[in-house]
Amino acid sequence: MHMRDSFGSKIGLVLATAGSAVGLGNVWRFPFMTGQHGGAAFIIIYIFFIILLGIPGMVSEFIVGRHAASNAARAYDRLSRGKPWKYVGVLGIVSSTIILGFYSVVAGWCVQYLYASVEGEILGDAQYVQNYFQVFSSSIARPVAFGIGFIFLTHLVIVRGVRKGIERFSKMMMPTLFLLLLIIVVASCMLPGAVDGIAFLFMPDFSKVDGHVLLAALGQAFFSLSLGTACLCTYASYFKRDTNLVHSAAQIALIDTLIAVLAGLMIFPAAFSVGINPDSGPSLIFITLPNVFQKAFASMPLVGYVMSILFYALLALAALTSTISMHEIGTAFFHEELKSPRRVSAWFVTIIASVICVVSSLSVGAVPELSLFGMPMMDCFDRLTAQLLLPLGGFLTCIYIGWYASRQEVYMEFTNDHKVNRAFFKTYIFFVKFVCPTLIIFIFLDQLGLL
Ligand code: TRP
Repeated sequence: MHMRDSFGSKIGLVLATAGSAVGLGNVWRFPFMTGQHGGAAFIIIYIFFIILLGIPGMVSEFIVGRHAASNAARAYDRLSRGKPWKYVGVLGIVSSTIILGFYSVVAGWCVQYLYASVEGEILGDAQYVQNYFQVFSSSIARPVAFGIGFIFLTHLVIVRGVRKGIERFSKMMMPTLFLLLLIIVVASCMLPGAVDGIAFLFMPDFSKVDGHVLLAALGQAFFSLSLGTACLCTYASYFKRDTNLVHSAAQIALIDTLIAVLAGLMIFPAAFSVGINPDSGPSLIFITLPNVFQKAFASMPLVGYVMSILFYALLALAALTSTISMHEIGTAFFHEELKSPRRVSAWFVTIIASVICVVSSLSVGAVPELSLFGMPMMDCFDRLTAQLLLPLGGFLTCIYIGWYASRQEVYMEFTNDHKVNRAFFKTYIFFVKFVCPTLIIFIFLDQLGLL
Protein backbone atom coordinates (compact mmCIF):
# COMPACT_ATOMS: atom_id res chain seq x y z
CA MET A 1 0.00 0.00 0.00
CA HIS A 2 1.27 3.46 -0.82
CA MET A 3 1.56 6.16 1.83
CA ARG A 4 -1.46 8.42 1.82
CA ASP A 5 -1.22 12.11 2.42
CA SER A 6 -3.10 13.82 5.22
CA PHE A 7 -4.14 17.35 6.09
CA GLY A 8 -1.52 19.10 8.20
CA SER A 9 -3.46 21.14 10.75
CA LYS A 10 -6.92 21.23 12.25
CA ILE A 11 -7.75 24.63 10.84
CA GLY A 12 -6.39 23.56 7.47
CA LEU A 13 -8.56 20.48 7.45
CA VAL A 14 -11.68 22.41 8.36
CA LEU A 15 -11.01 25.09 5.78
CA ALA A 16 -10.12 22.60 3.04
CA THR A 17 -13.28 20.60 3.64
CA ALA A 18 -15.21 23.84 3.93
CA GLY A 19 -13.58 24.78 0.61
CA SER A 20 -15.26 21.78 -0.93
CA ALA A 21 -18.57 22.66 0.69
CA VAL A 22 -18.50 26.39 0.00
CA GLY A 23 -18.80 27.17 -3.66
CA LEU A 24 -21.32 28.01 -6.31
CA GLY A 25 -23.81 26.01 -4.26
CA ASN A 26 -23.79 28.79 -1.68
CA VAL A 27 -23.33 31.88 -3.76
CA TRP A 28 -25.18 30.90 -6.94
CA ARG A 29 -27.53 27.98 -6.26
CA PHE A 30 -28.74 28.88 -2.76
CA PRO A 31 -29.94 32.39 -3.67
CA PHE A 32 -31.79 31.32 -6.77
CA MET A 33 -33.37 28.32 -5.08
CA THR A 34 -34.45 30.57 -2.23
CA GLY A 35 -35.84 33.03 -4.76
CA GLN A 36 -37.79 30.37 -6.60
CA HIS A 37 -39.14 28.71 -3.47
CA GLY A 38 -40.50 31.59 -1.53
CA GLY A 39 -37.67 33.08 0.57
CA ALA A 40 -37.56 32.75 4.35
CA ALA A 41 -39.72 29.62 4.63
CA PHE A 42 -37.31 27.80 2.31
CA ILE A 43 -34.33 28.94 4.39
CA ILE A 44 -35.87 27.72 7.64
CA ILE A 45 -36.58 24.29 6.16
CA TYR A 46 -33.10 24.25 4.69
CA ILE A 47 -31.47 24.91 8.07
CA PHE A 48 -33.67 22.27 9.64
CA PHE A 49 -32.34 19.72 7.11
CA ILE A 50 -28.74 20.82 7.65
CA ILE A 51 -29.08 20.06 11.36
CA LEU A 52 -31.19 16.92 11.22
CA LEU A 53 -29.71 15.28 8.15
CA GLY A 54 -26.62 17.21 7.15
CA ILE A 55 -24.53 16.87 10.29
CA PRO A 56 -25.28 13.16 10.95
CA GLY A 57 -24.76 12.51 7.23
CA MET A 58 -21.40 14.28 7.24
CA VAL A 59 -20.24 12.41 10.32
CA SER A 60 -21.23 9.14 8.65
CA GLU A 61 -19.23 9.87 5.52
CA PHE A 62 -16.28 10.96 7.67
CA ILE A 63 -16.44 7.67 9.56
CA VAL A 64 -16.51 5.59 6.37
CA GLY A 65 -13.67 7.56 4.78
CA ARG A 66 -11.29 7.89 7.69
CA HIS A 67 -11.69 4.30 8.70
CA ALA A 68 -10.80 3.00 5.27
CA ALA A 69 -8.25 5.60 4.17
CA SER A 70 -8.90 4.74 0.55
CA ASN A 71 -11.10 5.72 -2.40
CA ALA A 72 -14.87 5.78 -2.00
CA ALA A 73 -15.72 2.38 -3.51
CA ARG A 74 -13.22 0.51 -1.39
CA ALA A 75 -14.14 2.57 1.67
CA TYR A 76 -17.74 1.39 1.54
CA ASP A 77 -16.47 -2.16 1.43
CA ARG A 78 -14.41 -1.88 4.58
CA LEU A 79 -16.90 -1.69 7.42
CA SER A 80 -19.09 -4.50 6.08
CA ARG A 81 -17.12 -6.79 3.85
CA GLY A 82 -18.39 -8.81 0.95
CA LYS A 83 -21.73 -7.02 0.66
CA PRO A 84 -22.61 -4.85 -2.33
CA TRP A 85 -22.04 -1.61 -0.38
CA LYS A 86 -19.19 -0.58 -2.56
CA TYR A 87 -21.78 0.42 -5.15
CA VAL A 88 -22.79 3.28 -2.86
CA GLY A 89 -19.27 4.55 -3.37
CA VAL A 90 -19.57 3.97 -7.11
CA LEU A 91 -22.89 5.84 -7.17
CA GLY A 92 -21.15 8.78 -5.49
CA ILE A 93 -18.42 8.73 -8.09
CA VAL A 94 -21.01 8.83 -10.90
CA SER A 95 -22.94 11.70 -9.28
CA SER A 96 -19.89 13.78 -8.60
CA THR A 97 -18.65 13.44 -12.18
CA ILE A 98 -22.05 14.57 -13.50
CA ILE A 99 -21.98 17.52 -11.09
CA LEU A 100 -18.47 18.40 -12.19
CA GLY A 101 -19.80 18.61 -15.77
CA PHE A 102 -22.63 21.07 -15.25
CA TYR A 103 -21.00 22.94 -12.38
CA SER A 104 -18.13 23.84 -14.68
CA VAL A 105 -20.53 25.57 -17.04
CA VAL A 106 -21.44 28.03 -14.30
CA ALA A 107 -17.82 28.26 -13.15
CA GLY A 108 -16.99 29.15 -16.77
CA TRP A 109 -19.60 31.92 -16.67
CA CYS A 110 -17.82 33.29 -13.58
CA VAL A 111 -14.54 33.36 -15.46
CA GLN A 112 -16.22 35.12 -18.37
CA TYR A 113 -17.67 37.68 -15.95
CA LEU A 114 -14.26 38.15 -14.42
CA TYR A 115 -12.93 38.96 -17.86
CA ALA A 116 -15.92 41.18 -18.61
CA SER A 117 -15.41 43.05 -15.34
CA VAL A 118 -11.80 43.75 -16.18
CA GLU A 119 -12.80 44.97 -19.66
CA GLY A 120 -15.64 47.04 -18.21
CA GLU A 121 -18.09 45.23 -20.49
CA ILE A 122 -20.82 44.78 -17.94
CA LEU A 123 -21.28 48.45 -17.15
CA GLY A 124 -24.75 49.60 -18.14
CA ASP A 125 -28.33 49.72 -16.91
CA ALA A 126 -30.28 46.69 -15.68
CA GLN A 127 -31.69 45.96 -19.13
CA TYR A 128 -28.24 46.05 -20.71
CA VAL A 129 -26.80 43.65 -18.14
CA GLN A 130 -29.69 41.27 -18.65
CA ASN A 131 -29.17 41.30 -22.41
CA TYR A 132 -25.46 40.84 -21.97
CA PHE A 133 -26.05 37.63 -20.07
CA GLN A 134 -28.55 36.36 -22.64
CA VAL A 135 -26.30 37.04 -25.59
CA PHE A 136 -23.30 35.52 -23.90
CA SER A 137 -24.95 32.38 -22.59
CA SER A 138 -26.70 31.60 -25.86
CA SER A 139 -23.58 31.76 -27.98
CA ILE A 140 -21.82 28.48 -28.71
CA ALA A 141 -18.07 28.67 -28.56
CA ARG A 142 -17.29 30.85 -25.56
CA PRO A 143 -19.39 29.29 -22.83
CA VAL A 144 -18.32 25.81 -23.96
CA ALA A 145 -14.66 26.79 -24.11
CA PHE A 146 -14.76 28.42 -20.68
CA GLY A 147 -16.52 25.41 -19.16
CA ILE A 148 -14.08 22.88 -20.58
CA GLY A 149 -11.23 25.23 -19.71
CA PHE A 150 -12.37 25.17 -16.11
CA ILE A 151 -12.41 21.38 -16.00
CA PHE A 152 -8.95 21.39 -17.47
CA LEU A 153 -7.74 23.82 -14.84
CA THR A 154 -9.08 21.47 -12.18
CA HIS A 155 -7.31 18.64 -13.97
CA LEU A 156 -3.99 20.48 -13.78
CA VAL A 157 -4.30 20.87 -10.03
CA ILE A 158 -5.38 17.26 -9.57
CA VAL A 159 -2.54 15.67 -11.51
CA ARG A 160 -0.02 17.45 -9.36
CA GLY A 161 -1.49 15.79 -6.29
CA VAL A 162 -3.17 18.59 -4.49
CA ARG A 163 -3.51 17.76 -0.85
CA LYS A 164 -0.93 20.22 0.34
CA GLY A 165 -2.02 22.57 -2.41
CA ILE A 166 -5.68 22.36 -1.50
CA GLU A 167 -5.03 22.97 2.14
CA ARG A 168 -2.73 25.93 1.73
CA PHE A 169 -4.91 27.44 -0.96
CA SER A 170 -8.07 27.07 1.13
CA LYS A 171 -6.50 28.68 4.17
CA MET A 172 -5.94 31.88 2.22
CA MET A 173 -9.07 31.74 0.14
CA MET A 174 -11.78 31.15 2.68
CA PRO A 175 -11.12 34.15 4.96
CA THR A 176 -10.78 36.42 1.92
CA LEU A 177 -14.03 35.18 0.45
CA PHE A 178 -15.76 35.78 3.77
CA LEU A 179 -14.45 39.31 4.09
CA LEU A 180 -15.41 40.24 0.57
CA LEU A 181 -18.89 38.83 1.02
CA LEU A 182 -19.34 40.97 4.12
CA ILE A 183 -18.33 44.11 2.25
CA ILE A 184 -20.74 43.40 -0.59
CA VAL A 185 -23.53 42.54 1.86
CA VAL A 186 -23.14 45.94 3.50
CA ALA A 187 -23.13 47.68 0.12
CA SER A 188 -26.17 45.76 -1.02
CA CYS A 189 -28.17 46.39 2.16
CA MET A 190 -27.57 50.12 1.88
CA LEU A 191 -29.19 50.44 -1.53
CA PRO A 192 -32.57 52.19 -1.67
CA GLY A 193 -35.40 49.69 -1.35
CA ALA A 194 -33.13 47.03 0.14
CA VAL A 195 -35.52 46.48 3.05
CA ASP A 196 -37.92 44.53 0.83
CA GLY A 197 -35.18 42.10 0.00
CA ILE A 198 -34.25 41.67 3.65
CA ALA A 199 -37.91 41.04 4.49
CA PHE A 200 -38.12 38.47 1.71
CA LEU A 201 -35.20 36.62 3.31
CA PHE A 202 -36.32 36.72 6.91
CA MET A 203 -40.14 36.82 6.95
CA PRO A 204 -41.39 33.31 6.30
CA ASP A 205 -44.57 32.61 4.38
CA PHE A 206 -45.26 28.95 4.99
CA SER A 207 -48.28 28.92 2.70
CA LYS A 208 -45.89 28.41 -0.21
CA VAL A 209 -44.39 25.24 1.25
CA ASP A 210 -45.31 21.96 -0.44
CA GLY A 211 -43.59 18.65 -1.19
CA HIS A 212 -41.72 20.25 -4.00
CA VAL A 213 -40.21 22.91 -1.74
CA LEU A 214 -39.23 20.24 0.80
CA LEU A 215 -37.43 18.23 -1.83
CA ALA A 216 -35.73 21.33 -3.20
CA ALA A 217 -34.49 22.27 0.29
CA LEU A 218 -33.32 18.73 0.90
CA GLY A 219 -31.44 18.68 -2.39
CA GLN A 220 -29.89 22.05 -1.66
CA ALA A 221 -28.72 20.91 1.79
CA PHE A 222 -27.01 17.86 0.30
CA PHE A 223 -25.54 19.77 -2.61
CA SER A 224 -24.18 22.55 -0.46
CA LEU A 225 -22.52 20.25 2.06
CA SER A 226 -21.11 18.09 -0.79
CA LEU A 227 -23.04 15.26 0.84
CA GLY A 228 -24.11 11.96 -0.67
CA THR A 229 -21.44 11.62 -3.32
CA ALA A 230 -18.62 10.20 -1.25
CA CYS A 231 -16.82 13.53 -1.55
CA LEU A 232 -16.59 13.98 2.22
CA CYS A 233 -15.65 10.35 2.52
CA THR A 234 -12.75 10.86 0.12
CA TYR A 235 -11.58 13.96 2.02
CA ALA A 236 -11.95 12.20 5.37
CA SER A 237 -9.58 9.54 4.12
CA TYR A 238 -6.92 12.26 4.48
CA PHE A 239 -7.96 13.17 8.07
CA LYS A 240 -5.80 12.28 11.04
CA ARG A 241 -6.68 9.86 13.82
CA ASP A 242 -7.21 12.63 16.35
CA THR A 243 -9.57 14.74 14.23
CA ASN A 244 -12.82 15.21 16.13
CA LEU A 245 -15.35 14.18 13.48
CA VAL A 246 -18.43 15.62 15.15
CA HIS A 247 -16.85 19.01 15.82
CA SER A 248 -15.49 19.20 12.29
CA ALA A 249 -18.88 18.36 10.77
CA ALA A 250 -20.62 20.97 12.92
CA GLN A 251 -18.05 23.63 12.10
CA ILE A 252 -18.20 23.00 8.39
CA ALA A 253 -22.00 22.99 8.38
CA LEU A 254 -21.97 26.28 10.26
CA ILE A 255 -19.50 27.97 7.92
CA ASP A 256 -21.37 26.69 4.89
CA THR A 257 -24.77 27.90 6.13
CA LEU A 258 -23.42 31.26 7.21
CA ILE A 259 -21.93 31.87 3.78
CA ALA A 260 -25.16 30.83 2.05
CA VAL A 261 -27.24 33.21 4.15
CA LEU A 262 -24.72 36.01 3.57
CA ALA A 263 -24.95 35.33 -0.15
CA GLY A 264 -28.72 35.74 0.16
CA LEU A 265 -28.17 39.04 1.96
CA MET A 266 -25.89 40.10 -0.84
CA ILE A 267 -28.28 39.27 -3.68
CA PHE A 268 -31.85 39.93 -2.54
CA PRO A 269 -31.60 43.47 -1.18
CA ALA A 270 -29.85 44.37 -4.43
CA ALA A 271 -32.31 42.48 -6.62
CA PHE A 272 -35.29 44.18 -4.99
CA SER A 273 -33.54 47.50 -5.19
CA VAL A 274 -32.97 47.33 -8.95
CA GLY A 275 -36.37 45.72 -9.56
CA ILE A 276 -35.22 42.30 -10.67
CA ASN A 277 -37.55 39.43 -9.96
CA PRO A 278 -36.04 37.26 -7.21
CA ASP A 279 -37.28 34.08 -8.89
CA SER A 280 -35.38 34.63 -12.11
CA GLY A 281 -33.49 31.34 -11.64
CA PRO A 282 -29.91 30.36 -12.41
CA SER A 283 -29.01 33.65 -14.07
CA LEU A 284 -29.78 35.62 -10.89
CA ILE A 285 -26.23 36.40 -9.78
CA PHE A 286 -25.14 37.23 -13.29
CA ILE A 287 -27.77 39.89 -13.81
CA THR A 288 -28.21 41.41 -10.36
CA LEU A 289 -24.67 41.71 -9.11
CA PRO A 290 -23.17 43.80 -11.89
CA ASN A 291 -25.87 46.33 -11.07
CA VAL A 292 -25.07 46.32 -7.39
CA PHE A 293 -21.47 47.12 -8.05
CA GLN A 294 -22.41 50.05 -10.22
CA LYS A 295 -25.25 51.49 -8.18
CA ALA A 296 -23.76 51.00 -4.75
CA PHE A 297 -20.55 52.66 -5.80
CA ALA A 298 -21.98 55.21 -8.21
CA SER A 299 -19.94 57.98 -6.61
CA MET A 300 -16.77 55.87 -6.53
CA PRO A 301 -16.80 53.99 -9.83
CA LEU A 302 -13.27 52.73 -9.39
CA VAL A 303 -14.18 50.96 -6.16
CA GLY A 304 -17.17 49.35 -7.89
CA TYR A 305 -14.94 48.27 -10.73
CA VAL A 306 -12.39 46.65 -8.42
CA MET A 307 -15.07 44.99 -6.29
CA SER A 308 -16.64 43.43 -9.32
CA ILE A 309 -13.31 41.99 -10.43
CA LEU A 310 -12.50 40.70 -6.97
CA PHE A 311 -15.92 39.20 -6.59
CA TYR A 312 -15.92 37.16 -9.78
CA ALA A 313 -12.31 36.13 -9.19
CA LEU A 314 -13.18 34.84 -5.76
CA LEU A 315 -16.27 33.11 -7.04
CA ALA A 316 -14.17 31.32 -9.63
CA LEU A 317 -11.67 30.31 -6.96
CA ALA A 318 -14.40 29.11 -4.61
CA ALA A 319 -15.76 27.08 -7.51
CA LEU A 320 -12.29 25.67 -8.06
CA THR A 321 -11.90 24.36 -4.50
CA SER A 322 -15.23 22.59 -5.08
CA THR A 323 -14.46 21.20 -8.55
CA ILE A 324 -11.16 19.88 -7.20
CA SER A 325 -13.07 17.86 -4.61
CA MET A 326 -15.46 16.47 -7.24
CA HIS A 327 -12.62 15.56 -9.55
CA GLU A 328 -10.62 13.95 -6.76
CA ILE A 329 -13.37 11.39 -6.05
CA GLY A 330 -13.28 9.86 -9.54
CA THR A 331 -9.53 10.21 -9.94
CA ALA A 332 -8.79 8.44 -6.64
CA PHE A 333 -11.20 5.68 -7.67
CA PHE A 334 -9.73 5.01 -11.12
CA HIS A 335 -6.23 5.30 -9.74
CA GLU A 336 -6.70 2.84 -6.89
CA GLU A 337 -9.20 0.43 -8.42
CA LEU A 338 -8.10 0.22 -12.05
CA LYS A 339 -4.48 0.70 -11.04
CA SER A 340 -4.08 3.26 -13.79
CA PRO A 341 -1.55 6.01 -13.10
CA ARG A 342 -2.99 9.11 -11.45
CA ARG A 343 -2.39 11.14 -14.60
CA VAL A 344 -4.38 8.74 -16.77
CA SER A 345 -7.11 8.39 -14.17
CA ALA A 346 -7.54 12.14 -14.07
CA TRP A 347 -8.00 12.15 -17.85
CA PHE A 348 -10.90 9.69 -17.61
CA VAL A 349 -12.73 12.04 -15.29
CA THR A 350 -11.85 15.12 -17.33
CA ILE A 351 -13.13 13.64 -20.58
CA ILE A 352 -16.42 12.34 -19.19
CA ALA A 353 -17.10 15.60 -17.35
CA SER A 354 -16.27 17.61 -20.48
CA VAL A 355 -18.91 15.79 -22.50
CA ILE A 356 -21.50 16.55 -19.81
CA CYS A 357 -20.29 20.13 -19.74
CA VAL A 358 -20.78 20.59 -23.51
CA VAL A 359 -24.28 19.11 -23.45
CA SER A 360 -25.25 21.25 -20.43
CA SER A 361 -23.85 24.43 -21.83
CA LEU A 362 -25.54 24.05 -25.22
CA SER A 363 -28.84 23.07 -23.63
CA VAL A 364 -29.19 26.44 -21.90
CA GLY A 365 -27.92 28.36 -24.89
CA ALA A 366 -27.60 27.63 -28.56
CA VAL A 367 -29.33 24.24 -28.71
CA PRO A 368 -32.53 24.35 -26.65
CA GLU A 369 -33.56 21.04 -28.29
CA LEU A 370 -31.20 19.35 -25.82
CA SER A 371 -33.96 18.92 -23.30
CA LEU A 372 -35.70 16.16 -21.43
CA PHE A 373 -39.10 16.32 -19.70
CA GLY A 374 -39.40 19.92 -20.85
CA MET A 375 -36.22 20.99 -19.06
CA PRO A 376 -32.85 21.85 -20.57
CA MET A 377 -30.33 19.03 -19.99
CA MET A 378 -28.43 21.30 -17.60
CA ASP A 379 -31.45 21.45 -15.30
CA CYS A 380 -31.99 17.70 -15.73
CA PHE A 381 -28.46 16.94 -14.56
CA ASP A 382 -28.87 19.34 -11.67
CA ARG A 383 -32.20 17.83 -10.59
CA LEU A 384 -31.08 14.24 -11.16
CA THR A 385 -28.09 14.68 -8.87
CA ALA A 386 -29.28 17.14 -6.21
CA GLN A 387 -32.79 15.81 -5.84
CA LEU A 388 -32.31 12.11 -6.49
CA LEU A 389 -28.78 10.74 -6.46
CA LEU A 390 -27.40 12.76 -3.53
CA PRO A 391 -30.31 12.09 -1.14
CA LEU A 392 -30.17 8.45 -2.26
CA GLY A 393 -26.44 8.30 -1.53
CA GLY A 394 -27.04 9.90 1.87
CA PHE A 395 -29.90 7.50 2.60
CA LEU A 396 -27.80 4.45 1.76
CA THR A 397 -24.88 5.75 3.82
CA CYS A 398 -27.14 6.09 6.87
CA ILE A 399 -28.55 2.60 6.35
CA TYR A 400 -25.05 1.26 5.93
CA ILE A 401 -23.69 2.84 9.11
CA GLY A 402 -26.86 2.32 11.13
CA TRP A 403 -27.70 -1.25 10.20
CA TYR A 404 -24.80 -3.04 8.54
CA ALA A 405 -21.41 -1.66 9.50
CA SER A 406 -19.58 -3.09 12.50
CA ARG A 407 -20.94 -1.09 15.47
CA GLN A 408 -17.69 -1.48 17.36
CA GLU A 409 -15.63 -0.01 14.53
CA VAL A 410 -18.10 2.82 13.99
CA TYR A 411 -17.91 3.58 17.72
CA MET A 412 -14.12 3.66 17.65
CA GLU A 413 -14.15 6.12 14.76
CA PHE A 414 -16.86 8.28 16.26
CA THR A 415 -15.11 8.56 19.63
CA ASN A 416 -11.49 8.54 18.41
CA ASP A 417 -10.91 5.33 20.35
CA HIS A 418 -13.00 6.18 23.44
CA LYS A 419 -11.60 9.67 23.78
CA VAL A 420 -14.29 12.11 22.60
CA ASN A 421 -18.03 12.47 22.00
CA ARG A 422 -18.96 9.29 23.84
CA ALA A 423 -22.11 10.91 25.19
CA PHE A 424 -23.47 11.57 21.68
CA PHE A 425 -22.94 8.14 20.22
CA LYS A 426 -26.36 6.69 21.07
CA THR A 427 -28.16 9.75 19.73
CA TYR A 428 -26.08 9.65 16.57
CA ILE A 429 -26.89 5.98 15.96
CA PHE A 430 -30.57 6.66 16.57
CA PHE A 431 -30.44 9.39 13.94
CA VAL A 432 -28.69 7.39 11.24
CA LYS A 433 -30.73 4.29 11.97
CA PHE A 434 -34.20 5.83 12.10
CA VAL A 435 -34.56 9.60 11.83
CA CYS A 436 -32.50 10.37 8.71
CA PRO A 437 -33.68 7.46 6.52
CA THR A 438 -37.33 8.01 7.49
CA LEU A 439 -37.17 11.71 6.76
CA ILE A 440 -35.64 11.12 3.33
CA ILE A 441 -38.21 8.45 2.46
CA PHE A 442 -41.09 10.68 3.52
CA ILE A 443 -39.91 13.52 1.37
CA PHE A 444 -39.59 11.23 -1.65
CA LEU A 445 -43.04 9.72 -1.13
CA ASP A 446 -44.52 13.15 -0.66
CA GLN A 447 -42.92 14.39 -3.85
CA LEU A 448 -44.25 11.37 -5.75
CA GLY A 449 -47.71 12.24 -4.51
CA LEU A 450 -47.97 9.07 -2.44
CA LEU A 451 -48.70 10.71 0.90
N1 TRP B 1 -20.75 21.85 -2.10
C1 TRP B 1 -20.28 22.52 -3.26
C2 TRP B 1 -20.99 23.83 -3.41
O1 TRP B 1 -21.79 24.19 -2.59
C3 TRP B 1 -20.45 21.69 -4.49
C4 TRP B 1 -19.76 20.38 -4.37
C5 TRP B 1 -18.43 20.17 -4.19
C6 TRP B 1 -20.36 19.14 -4.42
N2 TRP B 1 -18.17 18.85 -4.15
C7 TRP B 1 -19.33 18.19 -4.30
C8 TRP B 1 -21.66 18.77 -4.57
C9 TRP B 1 -19.61 16.86 -4.32
C10 TRP B 1 -21.94 17.42 -4.58
C11 TRP B 1 -20.92 16.51 -4.44
O2 TRP B 1 -20.77 24.54 -4.33
